[in-house]
Amino acid sequence: MEMSGLTALVTGATAGIGRAVAVRLAGEGAEVVVHGRDAERGAAVVGETEEAGRRGRFAGADLTDSADVLRLAQEAGDVDVLINNAGVYRFLPTSQMTDELFALHMDLNTRAPYLLVRALAPGMAERGGGTIVNVSTMAATVPTKGAGMYAASKAALEQLTRVWAAEYAEEGIRVNAVAPGPTRTPGTGDMDAAVLEAIAATTALRRVAEPEEVAEAVVFLASPRASYITGVVLEVAGGRPAIG
Ligand SMILES: NC(=O)c1ccc[n+]([C@@H]2O[C@H](COP(=O)([O-])OP(=O)(O)OC[C@H]3O[C@@H](n4cnc5c(N)ncnc54)[C@H](OP(=O)(O)O)[C@@H]3O)[C@@H](O)[C@H]2O)c1
Repeated sequence: MEMSGLTALVTGATAGIGRAVAVRLAGEGAEVVVHGRDAERGAAVVGETEEAGRRGRFAGADLTDSADVLRLAQEAGDVDVLINNAGVYRFLPTSQMTDELFALHMDLNTRAPYLLVRALAPGMAERGGGTIVNVSTMAATVPTKGAGMYAASKAALEQLTRVWAAEYAEEGIRVNAVAPGPTRTPGTGDMDAAVLEAIAATTALRRVAEPEEVAEAVVFLASPRASYITGVVLEVAGGRPAIG
């Protein structure tokens, strides 16, 4: 229960990796603000955080809308742990990428974390510190056909992670990122199963991850156990890429 007394905001916690992180943080004693858009799935995850032992509450917001991001920051209140997890990944060759999809990747994967850090870090600093974990992807560093916009939006988030680690260190705020490989979630469930398996085949472990395996790394970086770690991007990708 090393996170008891702390409040965590987990974006995109109504499904997949975010859901697993929310439940795991509650198990460590944190009170969790479960963010998403789907209130029904949000309520179910709040129930799971309560089963894990801590109170939770749902906060809805569309993170592609900057006004809604700022409203979420207000509604979340005093946050000690921020997990920027909500994200979108649409795999399309550059020739087929539309302006709308370009904006969607940048708004959700890059701008929303930026606005949340800008809004919430001052409060963390006033209360003596906090931790931030950004969820990136292996595609940010391993060139993956069709993942251009996704990779660019997350590569920006990775560099922001390093800059924020430097900027906020004196205020007692650590900032890290996790870069998952292929992980079984509702989002990847919508993809062609063969594509996910093909990506899994490029890992040394030759399999898709479960969301709980990624959540373990996120929660470690957010916890006091990682007290001397800031500015890193931790790969949780089964040893990707491994060829042969
Ligand atoms: N799964 C993988 O293989 C994989 C690999 C590497 C990195 N990642 C990264 O891990 C993170 C989570 O991925 P996942 O596969 O767990 O996702 P997922 O199953 O698709 O779930 C996405 C989550 O983000 C929320 N979300 C989507 N669009 C939103 C919007 N416009 N405003 C607010 N919330 C929104 C969804 O909320 P609602 O459904 O309630 O709207 C949901 O909670 C993402 O950043 C992704 O890039 C995933």
